[in-house]
Amino acid sequence: MENREKLHVAMFPWLAYGHLMPFLEVATFLARKGHRVSFISTPKNLQKLPANLPPSITLVELPLPRVHGLPDSVESTSDMPYNMVPYLKKAFDLLEPAVVEFLANSDVDWMIQDFMSFWLPQKTSRLGVKSALFSIFNASSLVFVGPPSLLVDGQVRAKTAEDLTVVPEWVTYPTKVAFRLHEVMNEEDFLDSESNMSVFERGGKLVQGCEIVAVRACSEFEAEPLSLLKKLYGDPWFRRGFCCPRIKDATKETRDGVS
Ligand SMILES: *[C@@H]1O[C@H](CO)[C@@H](O)[C@H](O)[C@H]1NC(C)=O
Ligand SMILES: *[C@@H]1O[C@H](CO)[C@@H](O)[C@H](O)[C@H]1NC(C)=O
Repeated sequence: MENREKLHVAMFPWLAYGHLMPFLEVATFLARKGHRVSFISTPKNLQKLPANLPPSITLVELPLPRVHGLPDSVESTSDMPYNMVPYLKKAFDLLEPAVVEFLANSDVDWMIQDFMSFWLPQKTSRLGVKSALFSIFNASSLVFVGPPSLLVDGQVRAKTAEDLTVVPEWVTYPTKVAFRLHEVMNEEDFLDSESNMSVFERGGKLVQGCEIVAVRACSEFEAEPLSLLKKLYGDPWFRRGFCCPRIKDATKETRDGVS
């Protein structure tokens, strides 16, 4: 590859180790291919990353804005009880101006985002930066979540927790992938309400706003979900980009637990 084809890629994972680490894997992969990577997160999260990163990965530290209800020391889901996640999301959303300012003052070509930063694709497109969504969730899970048209603009994916315990009607292959009731029982995060945006709506907006959706899945395991997902997302939103988890990393993750 010639030099001018080398890209500057920014990455902005959700504030959870189960997201930071797979994003860092992709960052390392891109760095090995000769691209520059700006890895954006908050100070405490960046400090916990492995020290021996490739030199073409730059860590971009943005302080987490404080919000009422979120203790000062908290910067990721592993620092707090699960019911505080809505406050962490609020703080995460308040990072918007700082992320946009960083992009405006950089020569970033692509922004790889997580399923939380629904506000970002609109901003990146204005700055001439292309957006990709990297889903750490597999294809079966994304199919379960549903087509973006059903998730955004006041659509209601789930009125009650029970709605999330059944296989949705758009699934065309035999599967049992759905939540168990206890997993979603006290999860205001999954339900749309006046005051909070559900993770589903965030995801839907991102799928619509991004030029590429890359899924951490491979066709050997998920042929049917991947081909259905392509239909649900429609062209041009779903432009390949499947990332196979490496066996070594998969075992490590199970051992460390995923948040
Ligand atoms: C989310 O909505 C619920 C119910 O409307 C509300 O009680 C809660 O405080 C909201 N959470 C945040 C972080 O706004
Ligand atoms: C996809 O992820 C879901 C949720 O973690 C899991 O239940 C399912 O077994 C996974 N499917 C495959 C094929 O990996």
